[in-house]
Amino acid sequence: MKSLINEYDEITAGCAPKRLHVITFGCQMNEYDSQKMAQMLMGRYCLTPYPEEADLIIVNTCSIREKAEHKLYSLLGRLRKFKDSKPDMKIAVAGCVAQQLGGRLIEKMPCVDLVIGPQGLYRLPELLERIETDGGVVATELDDQFKIPYIEAPLPRKGDVRGFVTIMQGCDNFCTYCIVPYVRGRETSRPSRHILKEIGFLVDQGVKDVTLLGQNVNSYGKGLVDEVDFPGLLERIDHAFPDIRLRFTTSHPKDLSDKLIDCFGRLKTLCEHLHLPVQSGSDKILKRMNRHYTRQEYLEKVDRLRKACPTITITTDLIVGFPGEEDQDFKDTLSLLETVRFDQAFAFKYSERPGTAATRFKDKVQEEVKSQRLKTLLELQNQIGFEQYRKMENKVCKVLVETFDKGKLTARTRGNHVVNLEGDADLVGRLINVYIERACHHSLVGRIVH
Ligand code: 5AD
Ligand code: SF4
Repeated sequence: MKSLINEYDEITAGCAPKRLHVITFGCQMNEYDSQKMAQMLMGRYCLTPYPEEADLIIVNTCSIREKAEHKLYSLLGRLRKFKDSKPDMKIAVAGCVAQQLGGRLIEKMPCVDLVIGPQGLYRLPELLERIETDGGVVATELDDQFKIPYIEAPLPRKGDVRGFVTIMQGCDNFCTYCIVPYVRGRETSRPSRHILKEIGFLVDQGVKDVTLLGQNVNSYGKGLVDEVDFPGLLERIDHAFPDIRLRFTTSHPKDLSDKLIDCFGRLKTLCEHLHLPVQSGSDKILKRMNRHYTRQEYLEKVDRLRKACPTITITTDLIVGFPGEEDQDFKDTLSLLETVRFDQAFAFKYSERPGTAATRFKDKVQEEVKSQRLKTLLELQNQIGFEQYRKMENKVCKVLVETFDKGKLTARTRGNHVVNLEGDADLVGRLINVYIERACHHSLVGRIVH
């Protein structure tokens, strides 16, 4: 859970009559959506880190894995107390849980004034006006023809080195465990001119490392007329902003084309890192998950990537205990980890999401088995990841410094390794050479090479 206030510089504080507090759960796309909502309200609201003094609180929710509903209700219970002593306060709930619950949320929690789904957030100013006259408002329609509008209002930032740009929203893949297609709607891609304009805006503000965001970025362009595909978009960005570091997430293995693979190593700005969620190493489970690739196809893509770009860092997501996963299927996942040797993996126990196809699968895996498998998997991956990170030891690499805090800097390699080192604040935003002294499990320790 994060508060948005640190993202903005002091110029915005105190310049608007009303105060806004934003609480964000979940992924970078949600962070981005929270920024967009704040951006739309700039001029009318300034940000406050204190929920109790806010005129408007926005809670931006995520339902992909956690017990999201329960968490939201307990947070709203706390926020309601602030509203009791400040009756003009408005509370809006946005994001995937809002989409899922719709009007039921207001019935259960009357302190909520506005429920907005991922498509509704672009109408936030108008919806806020409506609650003044109509009371509780629900904006959770999902339109198959939805297009992401361009927000003209500037977004003041506090000199961040990294910036994020959503290039597409929604998902058409319907993996059987996943709630995203139901709560984020059909895939919709933004026109490349909007994306380029937004990157230009970030670059003007000093951003040097740009990540393109979407549920399935490599199917970018579907449904757009006279537009580029995803490799074409990367090429345009590379050409227009030759001095940035460019990244993207998340990619679906089935849409990882040879054309995209060739971008690694060919486009100067594109960093040598790919997050490529595999989910399972068993063909039987991949089929049940509706992933549309086999273990062999995945391994072949990894080989091709490493041929095109030998230094590429590959990370992944995995689910253990999907319905029907037997010991042999789990062993197949472990052996896939040993074959690929991911630099990092995010592993999750399967959890049932309402309305998804997998809820109808009968052969559920017991909770204790899931926990044991997760433990086994993490032990193996920690060892592999550490060995991968140790390969960086005693090397000199170029890193971009991102933050400074009490004499300590954090920086990032092009391969997405976080490097901790000592140095001065004026190095933030600069590319420097560091000698990697040692590897930790998910980071490196280095020193500046003069
Ligand atoms: N249970 C467990 N993990 C899930 N993920 C998505 N849905 C579920 C679920 N129902 C994981 C996938 C995905 C990541 C973002 O979250 O691994 O890649
Ligand atoms: Fe969910 Fe699958 Fe779409 Fe990813 S590709 S958002 S896992 S449905």
